[in-house]
Amino acid sequence: MLTDNFGRKFYYLRLSITDVCNFSCTYCLPDGYQCDQPRDFLSLPEIRRIANGFSQLGTEKIRITGGEPSLRKDLPEIIAACKETQGIKRVAITTNAFKLPEHLPSWLDAGIDAINISIDSLDPRQFHSITGHNKLPHILKGIDMALAHGQTTVKVNTVLMREYNAYDMQTFLDWLKDTPVTLRFIELMQTGENQEFFDAQHVQGSRIKQNLILDGWLPAIRDKSAGPAQEFYHPDYAGRIGLIMPYSNDFCSTCNRLRVSSLGKLHLCLFTEEGLSLKDYLQQDDVEPLKQHIINMMGNKKATHFLHEKLTGATTNLAMLGG
Ligand code: 5AD
Ligand code: SF4
Repeated sequence: MLTDNFGRKFYYLRLSITDVCNFSCTYCLPDGYQCDQPRDFLSLPEIRRIANGFSQLGTEKIRITGGEPSLRKDLPEIIAACKETQGIKRVAITTNAFKLPEHLPSWLDAGIDAINISIDSLDPRQFHSITGHNKLPHILKGIDMALAHGQTTVKVNTVLMREYNAYDMQTFLDWLKDTPVTLRFIELMQTGENQEFFDAQHVQGSRIKQNLILDGWLPAIRDKSAGPAQEFYHPDYAGRIGLIMPYSNDFCSTCNRLRVSSLGKLHLCLFTEEGLSLKDYLQQDDVEPLKQHIINMMGNKKATHFLHEKLTGATTNLAMLGG
């Protein structure tokens, strides 16, 4: 089992398969994806070896991220490859869902277990102004299809922003009355490129937590391979609410994930200085050298990120590494 110097165990791998994205979210890629050089993204055989190596080290869950993972034509094969790996119990994806109704059947066929969708506003015009795309109704249709099918859990990620959503909880609450999704409010994180935006828009999740508790929302119990969200439920609501508060004091103590970028670099934290390349170890089916290399690097994992000191590491935006 992969363990670090602080006794944390790593059950969960976030695997980015591309850093290309077609959206231009204000806090992430405000000017859209910049294609500055040709990129050599992980191939399907390399992805298979990563899944294999990590699962032999105790990884139980793989989340496929981007950029926007569905921009890769071989996404269904990637999902299936992860799903077929012995020891991997859950395969999830984080997506902007711009073509969810079209893509859903092939993802379900490939065995997807969980879909996380980014929606920062339930107002179609505001959604358009945040992402650059007028896609909200289409995405909501995809969510309804996924819920009707029932094979996957559906979660929605909403980045809290002062100007766009943090002071309008009611629309979200109304939606959750009858929609059985978990809506996770994520505190905006500072990255190398969004400093001004961060200073203007960051809102603490603890404010929302206080209001939820006052309104009768109750804390739910956390699973060992679960994400970092504190989840709440309410007897009158079909949906749940989660809060992801990376600036809260003990956030990193429950860290259970590692990340591999689409360029094949291991990132011990979302905000480390640089990724550690695995590429040389991904060129053969024997995963023993890969496993040993990963184990050797675990000692470098720090206790926490340095976001409080405004140190964002090499992370210029989260499309690089899929959040
Ligand atoms: N702060 C917080 N969340 C972010 N995401 C992207 N950039 C940031 C940021 N700076 C979110 C996306 C998506 C998830 C992958 O990460 O909205 O839901
Ligand atoms: Fe938006 Fe995600 Fe694309 Fe960034 S990677 S622009 S957050 S959809």
